Amino acid sequence: VEAMPSHQRDLLGAYWCHRARSELRVAHAFRIIQEELTHVGASPIVIEMLAESIDDEHRHSELCRRLAERYGGAKVDIGDVASPDLPTFEGASRALRAALRVTAMCCINETIATVWLKACFERSRAPLARAANHLHLREEMKHARLGWAHLASPSVTPQIKASIAARLPSLLRANVPLWYRDEEPHLQGTDFEDHGILSTAQTKTVVLAAVDDVVLPGFREVSVTTDTTRQT
Ligand SMILES: [Fe+2]
Ligand SMILES: [Fe+2]
Repeated sequence: VEAMPSHQRDLLGAYWCHRARSELRVAHAFRIIQEELTHVGASPIVIEMLAESIDDEHRHSELCRRLAERYGGAKVDIGDVASPDLPTFEGASRALRAALRVTAMCCINETIATVWLKACFERSRAPLARAANHLHLREEMKHARLGWAHLASPSVTPQIKASIAARLPSLLRANVPLWYRDEEPHLQGTDFEDHGILSTAQTKTVVLAAVDDVVLPGFREVSVTTDTTRQT
């Protein structure tokens, strides 16, 4: 890190500060989902995994904040992060709404995150970036698993699964492109692969492969049909 020019260190400092805030937003979203799943009587194992995940995301946020300090070379305070506005899914029952939120957060986004973090880890050369991505990846797998565990549990009925299947194309359209549109504009055109940061083009390739190879087979595995999602 010391060998990097200071403007590059500043860019990476800002990047990790942005990531620290988004990890905290995920923690807030998990808290909302935990309340909903408790209310609809989800499996205690899933509720327990969610509780652990909330702690994990707080830790990830702190990890990212420390990376921001390390790269930027100055104290970083990420400030307050508001709870996100989760989609309301008008007309859905409470159990369906909870299942749709878990589907989007865990089965789609956290599952993509595991594949993406693995790619970030594999491409990174800087020891700090390798250690950070490795730690993050290890815990992110649990966040994906809790989504699949919920969909596989008896509290998600065949009717709910049919409703998830019907909404799957729009869930994917709403979530997947965010992965390759959300890049910090100031990082574009800079090569930070050694530090575990992929370009937008690399991210898009990794994310679309994750959808085809992991996310869609996952839905089929828990009896959520994906017949209508191919063309989307
Ligand atoms: Fe995380
Ligand atoms: Fe996560």
